[in-house]
Amino acid sequence: MSFAVDASAYDRFMGRFSAPLAEEFVRMLDLEQGWRALDVGSGPGALTLELSKVLGESNTVAVDPSESFVAALRESFPGVEAAVASADDLPFEDGAFDVSAAELVVHFMPDPVAGIREMGRVTRRNGVVGACVWDFGGDRAPLAPFWRAVGDLDPDAPNESERAGTHRGDLERLFAEAGLRDIRSEALIVTVEFASFDAWWEPFTLGVGPAGAYVAALDERRRAELVRRCADLLPSAPFSIESAAWAVVGRA
Ligand SMILES: C[S@@+](CC[C@H](N)C(=O)[O-])C[C@H]1O[C@@H](n2cnc3c(N)ncnc32)[C@H](O)[C@@H]1O
Repeated sequence: MSFAVDASAYDRFMGRFSAPLAEEFVRMLDLEQGWRALDVGSGPGALTLELSKVLGESNTVAVDPSESFVAALRESFPGVEAAVASADDLPFEDGAFDVSAAELVVHFMPDPVAGIREMGRVTRRNGVVGACVWDFGGDRAPLAPFWRAVGDLDPDAPNESERAGTHRGDLERLFAEAGLRDIRSEALIVTVEFASFDAWWEPFTLGVGPAGAYVAALDERRRAELVRRCADLLPSAPFSIESAAWAVVGRA
């Protein structure tokens, strides 16, 4: 799996975007003191950090199928209970949490409705279930310039915009199908600055996620072509990338 990677590689590749996204996303969850929260597909803990800032580590639980991410999360957050588990089979009782949330995870779930329904199962009645996914469909994901360059050179290459939840209205439909109520949505905007092209490109070589897996499979010539195409598409440094994520919250 392309998430069986070192947590620091993930943080350099996607954490630079997902950490500021978590600050926005947590606001939508309307957390209340004393609540117990579950971070589903936590990775090394971008959202875990924001949940535990409000609720405390002892009220925050995290799960992820990647053992390296769970190990890193345990080191960073010693007071957070963390387990290796997937969204569609959460090792918790019905109604164990007041809130469960998945940041940038639904599009990786093999069966997103089953995963969201399972998040609803472990959340108490009227508790909050939330999810957000980058707007790949609207070409506003942080990786959009990369996938645009890939598409220019290799039109048959897979593209993350084919995944569930990546288009306007997708997450709302998945939440409704999973039986959640009072569904509301927002587009969350995140801006990240880059001092140089290399600072933007280098983390793509670390093998993280579908983009990292794509780069890792290229020979030297095709990789150099891709680097040139990306450089052509990006503004000259320093530059910033503004990204948007679809975020949805519902009640269990
Ligand atoms: C893009 S990362 C997001 C990590 C973290 N939530 C963040 O915002 O930085 C996607 C995460 O989903 C996890 N994942 C993949 N399939 C999953 C599934 N079926 N259930 C739960 N998590 C899953 C991956 O291991 C990875 O940590």
